[in-house]
Amino acid sequence: MRLILIGPPGVGKGTQAAMLEARLGVRPLSSGVIFRAEIDADTDLGRLANSYIKRGELVPNGVTIEMMGKRIRSEEVRKQGFVLDGFPRTVRQAEALDAMLEEMNMPLDKAVSIEVTDEVLLQRLSGRMGCTKCGEIYHSITKPPKREGICDKCNSPLFVRSDDLPETIRERLRVFQENTTPVREHYRAKGMLFVVNGADEPEDVYSQIVNGAKG
Ligand code: AP5
Ligand code: MG
Repeated sequence: MRLILIGPPGVGKGTQAAMLEARLGVRPLSSGVIFRAEIDADTDLGRLANSYIKRGELVPNGVTIEMMGKRIRSEEVRKQGFVLDGFPRTVRQAEALDAMLEEMNMPLDKAVSIEVTDEVLLQRLSGRMGCTKCGEIYHSITKPPKREGICDKCNSPLFVRSDDLPETIRERLRVFQENTTPVREHYRAKGMLFVVNGADEPEDVYSQIVNGAKG
């Protein structure tokens, strides 16, 4: 399976990518997760990315395309397929991805647009926590861990993302409208897009994605 998940901050892209990996063995490639790992490792790329991410802005196209391209071209991804979460996020990134997949003779199956109201997004982002080790995603109200601040799966501490502050969230939503809604249209024009209702329960969103990907 080769899928793209398109959707605003907090819509559930990471949650669905993890479910697709656990159940179907599809490889999740999340640009945000990769950038955060670079920031934690204090690499040059991490420092550059952080200067944009902390303000809710997009990291420049050139470095983002190069970083994702390396992973998409890997042998593992060729064999396992992928679910892209957070990439492409601009039309320029989408065009670069299309060219890369064409050159590799690995056509995309579908692009999924996960959609929900801004009000729901704000509720989700304000309660989100993630595992520092395995990346499992929680929510203080809808998916609390069994022990406060500790991951159910691997017992590591949970953290709150530094870009989940109210002003940064507002800027991320604005940036999504401006840069990423045209990506949705890019794939709609190619007849590859289907829409799922991100307000549904995670299991229902998952079924909509898997059924839509087949169709
Ligand atoms: P990124 O990490 O991609 O963040 P994002 O797109 O803002 O999306 P989020 O990770 O916040 O949300 P999500 O959709 O994954 O939701 P989640 O599953 O966690 O990017 C971060 C930054 O990196 C960007 O702002 C940018 O600076 C930079 N960047 C990344 N990619 C880039 C690119 N390609 N180009 C340039 N810059 C880039 O769910 C959210 C919460 O809701 C969780 O608590 C979860 O438990 C809960 N939840 C999920 N689904 C449901 C459901 N169905 N019902 C109820 N609760 C749910
Ligand atoms: Mg995410």
